[in-house]
Amino acid sequence: MSNFTSISPHYRKTALLQKSAAERLFGMLDIGREDDVLDLGCGPGHLANKIRAMTKGVVAGIDPSPGMIAEALHNYPAGIEFSVAGAETLSASEQYDAIFCNSVFQWFRDPARAVSNCHNALRPGGRMAIQAPARQNYCPNFLRAVATLGDDTRTRDTFGHFISPWLFLDTAEEYAALFKNAGFKVLSSDIEQVPQLCGPEKVMEMFESGAAAGYLNPDCYDVTLPSAYIGAARELIAQDFHAQTKTNGQVELTFNRIYLLAHKI
Ligand SMILES: C[S@@+](CC[C@H](N)C(=O)[O-])C[C@H]1O[C@@H](n2cnc3c(N)ncnc32)[C@H](O)[C@@H]1O
Repeated sequence: MSNFTSISPHYRKTALLQKSAAERLFGMLDIGREDDVLDLGCGPGHLANKIRAMTKGVVAGIDPSPGMIAEALHNYPAGIEFSVAGAETLSASEQYDAIFCNSVFQWFRDPARAVSNCHNALRPGGRMAIQAPARQNYCPNFLRAVATLGDDTRTRDTFGHFISPWLFLDTAEEYAALFKNAGFKVLSSDIEQVPQLCGPEKVMEMFESGAAAGYLNPDCYDVTLPSAYIGAARELIAQDFHAQTKTNGQVELTFNRIYLLAHKI
């Protein structure tokens, strides 16, 4: 359902939110020098490449987007096992010591199955850390900008046919329950509000690196998109980000994010 293949060529440069959140996730997962690690939903491989420098063990990256895996193989042709697969089809058994999963969980179509597959893929004592946007109100700035599609005559009718592809749970306990039900021990599960100041163009870049794969993806509509729809939608969203700037020229961008660490006992 996600359309990351069209995003893949410029993803690494624009994925600023994902990058800052990843740093914190690395701290939580505490990768050891001998660990075999899976980067689940690895995108173009830049974080798997960071993991490569942290361990002498196996580093693997999977992603269901062929475009992302092509980028990953192009950028990092040696030392990391990249393959096209999603969490729901992960079939590894007791192969990894750690699973790193940054800004991917919201895309899972079948989260119970995905988390259970991850549990199977870990060795006993293995651990998994996720970071992802959380709560229906995951980013008030994005939601406000996207709501303008419902007001403009160029986009209003089509936008009514948008079907959200995302999984956003409203409490840290709901995220923890998914992991406990799969057999994990949850060490921490917290939803945090992460405020950030950025110019409207940067906010648009952040939108393009993730949310656009839903809102601007023909597969997320139950009608055929008119040819001018995506262009008009981009224009309206960018316009609203400009309207959200304060007198200092910055947008006060807020993201709700889940950070969860779980162990396989
Ligand atoms: C916002 S990007 C994050 C990429 C990278 N982890 C990062 O932090 O920069 C989301 C990625 O999740 C992948 N994805 C979507 N559905 C997935 C699934 N069911 N299982 C694994 N990855 C998935 C997408 O193809 C995309 O590359």
